[in-house]
Amino acid sequence: MKILAIETSCDETGIAIVEAKGGLKSPSFQILSNVVASQIKVHAPFGGIVPNLAKREHEKNLMPVLLRALREARKDLRSIDVIAVTVGPGLAPALWTGVNFAKELARTEKKPLIPVNHMEGHIVSVLLDASNIQCFTSTLNVGRLISKQIKKPKIVFPALALLVSGGHTELVLLKNWRNKKIIGETLDDAAGEAFDKVARMLELGYPGGPAIAKEAEKKLRVTPYALRVTLPRPMLHTKDYNFSFSGLKTAVLYLAEKLKKDGISIKEMRPAIAREFQNAVVEALTAKTIRAAKEHRAKTIILGGGVAANNLLRETLAKEIKKQIPASGLRLPAIQFTGDNAAMIAAAAYLFPRKVSWTKLKAIDRMRI
Ligand code: KG4
Ligand code: ZN
Repeated sequence: MKILAIETSCDETGIAIVEAKGGLKSPSFQILSNVVASQIKVHAPFGGIVPNLAKREHEKNLMPVLLRALREARKDLRSIDVIAVTVGPGLAPALWTGVNFAKELARTEKKPLIPVNHMEGHIVSVLLDASNIQCFTSTLNVGRLISKQIKKPKIVFPALALLVSGGHTELVLLKNWRNKKIIGETLDDAAGEAFDKVARMLELGYPGGPAIAKEAEKKLRVTPYALRVTLPRPMLHTKDYNFSFSGLKTAVLYLAEKLKKDGISIKEMRPAIAREFQNAVVEALTAKTIRAAKEHRAKTIILGGGVAANNLLRETLAKEIKKQIPASGLRLPAIQFTGDNAAMIAAAAYLFPRKVSWTKLKAIDRMRI
């Protein structure tokens, strides 16, 4: 089945053409093209995503991205079997742009249209194989392409997915591909959002995740002050599987204010704060994931979402799974599929096909799994 997928839920305009086969038993995906036009440069001066600017950029980018995806896949619209589009969750004005574009395409080309939940896309991003890409292009993110081979354990159910993005932090239990439910989530900020907000406080720019990760790797100047940088681990020991990151963010804010009052330069302290903040987030995410995996006897742990690009998170999860639940496997996404892209939307459309007539299709900004 040749799927043309469209993703505009946030700040990336993505269109991919993916050939899917194998059904639910052994799904496999050949990525014929996967074009992502990133809007990072447009939003960076504002320190976060501006919904109406995102809408304007999607409107501008969709047609050139579509033409490029078709050209790179060497396909025309006639050869496409179905069109898939992200309908939620996400920013309403951004989602509607993609939904309207997809509806128009489905109507004029007389193709079936499949609505896709963006978070389900992040789950199945682990099924996409970097070596199976005929062509991968991205207007800004080319540098993120890595060829490092990832060892991939087979996905055995029940599986537990930790989804960490800019808008969501969720633990999803999957009895099989079709039977899934959220068993834990953030009560306030998403993990990626916390990275972005803390990066802004530390004057590290947008997006915050990669900037904080980079800063945390810098050599620490061991001053008495740097040694005293400790941040809380909110909700680490609560019995549920929920997360909370806004207290951690506020703790960084107080710390930054105190530094200012004490006449200490924030730049000098940045590596220590970034490192401690990253440790706190990774510790919370890992601890709850392992506990949920133990209690639900998950045989495979899946990681997905923009924050899944974080090396410390990838390494810590791998280490703790090996130590605490060695019979379970960890399935990580290739780095280029951690951020938003349409290839994962095509894969989700194949595994979770919802049939809706294109006339009834609408954006659902608060859609849940
Ligand atoms: O999934 P995604 O691309 O977009 C949403 O669906 O929200 O996630 C974007 C988020 C941003 O908050 C960004 O700061 C974060 O992922 N991120 C990272 C890293 N790379 C991206 N967070 C931590 N470490 C990283 N290396
Ligand atoms: Zn996302």
